[in-house]
Amino acid sequence: MTESWRERALAVMPVGSSTNSKAPSLLPEEPEVIVRGRGCRVWDDRGREFIDFRCALGPITLGYADPRVDDAIRRQLDDGILFGHPHPLETTTAELFCSMVPGAEAARFLKTGGEALAAVIRIARAHTGRDRVVQIGYNGWLNSLAAGARVLPGAVSDSIPGVPAALAALHHAVDWDDRETLDGLFAEHGSEIALILVAADYPSIPASAGFYAYLRELADRHGALLAYDEMVTGFRVALGGMAEFTGVLPDLAVHGKGVANGMPLSVYSGRRDVLGVLDRGEVVVTSTYGGETLSLAAASATMTILRDEDVPARLRSSGERMQAGLNALFEDAGVALRLEGHPTCPQFVGDGALIDAFLRASFAHGVSFYRVVYVNAAHTADDLDEALRRAAAAVEDIA
Ligand SMILES: Cc1ncc(COP(=O)(O)O)c(C=O)c1O
Repeated sequence: MTESWRERALAVMPVGSSTNSKAPSLLPEEPEVIVRGRGCRVWDDRGREFIDFRCALGPITLGYADPRVDDAIRRQLDDGILFGHPHPLETTTAELFCSMVPGAEAARFLKTGGEALAAVIRIARAHTGRDRVVQIGYNGWLNSLAAGARVLPGAVSDSIPGVPAALAALHHAVDWDDRETLDGLFAEHGSEIALILVAADYPSIPASAGFYAYLRELADRHGALLAYDEMVTGFRVALGGMAEFTGVLPDLAVHGKGVANGMPLSVYSGRRDVLGVLDRGEVVVTSTYGGETLSLAAASATMTILRDEDVPARLRSSGERMQAGLNALFEDAGVALRLEGHPTCPQFVGDGALIDAFLRASFAHGVSFYRVVYVNAAHTADDLDEALRRAAAAVEDIA
């Protein structure tokens, strides 16, 4: 028997993938590798086809291999990828971004969410002259600066090997909507807290406006800044992410997934006066690849389509169809699972082993789900109905 991709990967690569959440854990039903994607479908190395709801864990909002985005990348490729001076796309993409995202008076680019969040933390510390940071939700691997933090979307750790205790002591991880802990933290350390950094809790997004208003008031009362991690929610929950959805503006924000339909680009943005620490050279955030033009071309094309075709509305209606359809299947079969949250990024809620059993059975029937169910604009009504028929067979298997 030939060695599997999983075995080969594990031999040469810790975790067997550069992204922990992408490493397959439900073999043999789950694909070991994906070799191709188009629209809302992906294919593995064995030629198996899956209707995909992983969307690369969020970034694919328009669909895999969207020709409009891919053409923009190809056109730019003919002119070069990266230069020793800024390319005009850097400015025009920032202009477009700021015109679409509430609260973004200025914006700058990096490659990953984690580093953009690190930038926001440093900027907030410099602007306020304070050291402590309150983190709510998962903010990527750099969140491991916080003891008790969400080191992975589904895992909390009390101590973090590799992070000095002195550094971890300045980060406070707080659970979603835990106002008692937040009030206590601010009562004790209010004058030392630079930033509240919040990533939305997927199942709680529909009812989140009150919590965001509370965070805004708490930050203002104590002279702290408020930043939104919009990695998943930006351009998905609404064009303007949680800022638009809740009507509560942050001081700073980080976007990434959804900006460029899969090309690596993150954006940190916010109040011009706060970002002024960069203009004045008090804080240095700089990276060789921030202005890489293929990703900027992809971002400009993607954001234009998202805006002109009101893609978030399409994601919402497709998501509603999926969410209602799956919840009806679970209910009718007496399976104790629910898909909860905003239809564009709802999360399976229920016993972990039961969720795994459903995901495994779904893979076997040709539907690729993740813990969070992401639709993209290429899912047609027929695709969704086909996915629901396949999911019905998976529910039957586990019921
Ligand atoms: C809410 C949220 N914040 C931050 C990140 C980290 O982004 P990146 O993986 O690009 O560093 C992620 C990635 O999954 C995320 O979902």
